[in-house]
Amino acid sequence: MKTRWFPRLMFVLGTLPFCWLAWRWVHHQLGINTVETVARYTGDWTIRFLMLTLAITPLRHIPGLQPLARLRRMSGLYTFFYATLHALHYWARDVQWNWQIIQEDLTYRRFFIAGMIAWTLMIPLAATSFDRAIRWMGGRRWRLLHKLIYVTALAGVVHYLWQGKTATLDPLGYALLLTILLASRVVLFWKRKRRSHVNPKPHLAHSN
Ligand code: HEM
Repeated sequence: MKTRWFPRLMFVLGTLPFCWLAWRWVHHQLGINTVETVARYTGDWTIRFLMLTLAITPLRHIPGLQPLARLRRMSGLYTFFYATLHALHYWARDVQWNWQIIQEDLTYRRFFIAGMIAWTLMIPLAATSFDRAIRWMGGRRWRLLHKLIYVTALAGVVHYLWQGKTATLDPLGYALLLTILLASRVVLFWKRKRRSHVNPKPHLAHSN
């Protein structure tokens, strides 16, 4: 299967939510409470891309879905893009760079602290998402650093759960999805470990 167009398709698909938001903004289609609409819209797209990024690894182990691996990096970068938009929108439009409120949010409101942890941990991931960074850091260290995505996901879901405004099941749905995705990673880890136990590397086999 030709998959070279996959990243290009992902690039286009990832910009669509932003274009739709911009279109609604320009045409005054964001409802009465535009601040809340934008905060929710960007928060929703952040968590969707976050889950997609995490889902790609288990999915690519399904026969035929291996090419999905090529989308992981771009999906991660879109997560960071929408999270940054989400946070900047809150600071610039909701609290209008009022440092006292921002400081209070990040000191006393656990909902904001969780969101901030999720966003801050994504910065080193986005900054090292390029081939040159992988070469510079070495694969092992790079993979270790990129495990931070799990902490980000956990903090992102907790942030949503703690929002507590909506009576919908959405945050619980994401918590369940995250549990399934993390459990699938544990299963993959054990499978890999068992395989390497059954088929040890040649030099290890000789030394036994
Ligand atoms: C990875 C990081 C983050 C994720 C995944 C995330 C996700 C979300 C989600 C899913 C919602 C609820 C949307 C809905 O009700 O449909 C939300 C709400 C919100 N988030 Fe975040 N968020 C993140 C970081 C942040 C940061 C850093 C801030 C600000 C400093 C922030 C501020 C807010 C606010 C103010 C709302 C409430 C919107 C409202 O109901 O009026 N978030 N976020």
